[in-house]
Amino acid sequence: MNKPSPKPEKIISLADLAPENVRRIAPYVPGKPIGETARELGIPEDRILKMASNESPLGPSPRAVAAIRGALDALHYYPDGSGFELKEKLAKRLALAPANFVLGNGSNDVLELVARSFLTRDDSAVHSRHAFMVYPLAIQAIGARGIVVPERDYATDLDAMAAAVRDDTKIVFIANPNNPTGTFSPWEDVRRFLERVPSTVLVVVDEAYEEYLPDGLRSPTAGWLGRFPNLVVSRTLSKAYGLAGLRVGYAYADPVVAEVMNRVRQPFNVNHLAMVAALAALDDEEFIARNREVNAKGLAQLGEGFTRLGLEYIPSHGNFITVRIGQGVPRVYGELLAAGVIVRPIAGYGMPEHLRVTVGLPEHNERFLASLARALGKR
Ligand SMILES: Cc1ncc(COP(=O)(O)O)c(C=O)c1O
Repeated sequence: MNKPSPKPEKIISLADLAPENVRRIAPYVPGKPIGETARELGIPEDRILKMASNESPLGPSPRAVAAIRGALDALHYYPDGSGFELKEKLAKRLALAPANFVLGNGSNDVLELVARSFLTRDDSAVHSRHAFMVYPLAIQAIGARGIVVPERDYATDLDAMAAAVRDDTKIVFIANPNNPTGTFSPWEDVRRFLERVPSTVLVVVDEAYEEYLPDGLRSPTAGWLGRFPNLVVSRTLSKAYGLAGLRVGYAYADPVVAEVMNRVRQPFNVNHLAMVAALAALDDEEFIARNREVNAKGLAQLGEGFTRLGLEYIPSHGNFITVRIGQGVPRVYGELLAAGVIVRPIAGYGMPEHLRVTVGLPEHNERFLASLARALGKR
């Protein structure tokens, strides 16, 4: 499967020094940055509307910003590599122990850590077809085999995922809600899935968008670790807490699993300001409540707008919504960009006819919908 690197005398580019599985990695393409778009259009940055990376439209948590200001004088010290205070706080909130936690430079870091800690080239890992891109990247970087399972109506097909598990499968990745589809699997189904898969398979439940779920659907997974020691849950402060630029996320898992991951991570993988900000943001309940409310209203506004334009969309539980444009995606994306509105084409996710749009403030959503209508020749 994965050929070894060529012998030194056959190397024509230094890239050939990398093993084949690494050479085959297609780089992750992030949302187009505001600065780059402003330079290309020759307009000021404040005229650009970025709805491409599922960031908070309310900015960062104000409590986090205040806490960072108060922490600037300690930047000459290394951060607390054990993350003592943050783990204590998370443990209290989730009724777990600090030993259950692994902190990460964003939840991306913890997702990669699971793969690096447990997968070898001889193993396989399962994820759904239109799942978050970091799963296949992490699997491929190791040279393990990715088993890709089609969805049903864009929703993760947990029965098919359970059936796809092989003897050499070590990890299953499930995002709930999923990005880029925004679909949600009821927690009873996730629990049934955990009951079905062998207890020697790690089930990673990625809850990056958990905070946006309505009250009745909030995640019960912290209470499941006792029953399912093979469960690993990842969370982030990038989305509802508005701290994407700082990079802080975490995982909770059985202490045995967390201890292995903590051995593999870099000693100071979460920086001091990120930890200080996370501690403050976790208490910023008012900010989270506002973000949830703005998001719920924005999802409705965008959904209604798409319906008016005769466009199909995938009902979303995240802070983004994915709409079917058809074959005109490159042109419509280009016209939106020319109007200063950045959204996300998701051909890289195997969805070339869709665009993913992050929910904004009401006026952002309105501007995006008006630009979209013009791009479609409907206004
Ligand atoms: C499903 C999912 N998981 C994880 C992440 C990673 O977020 P971060 O590394 O900022 O915590 C994202 C970001 O878009 C995501 O959509």
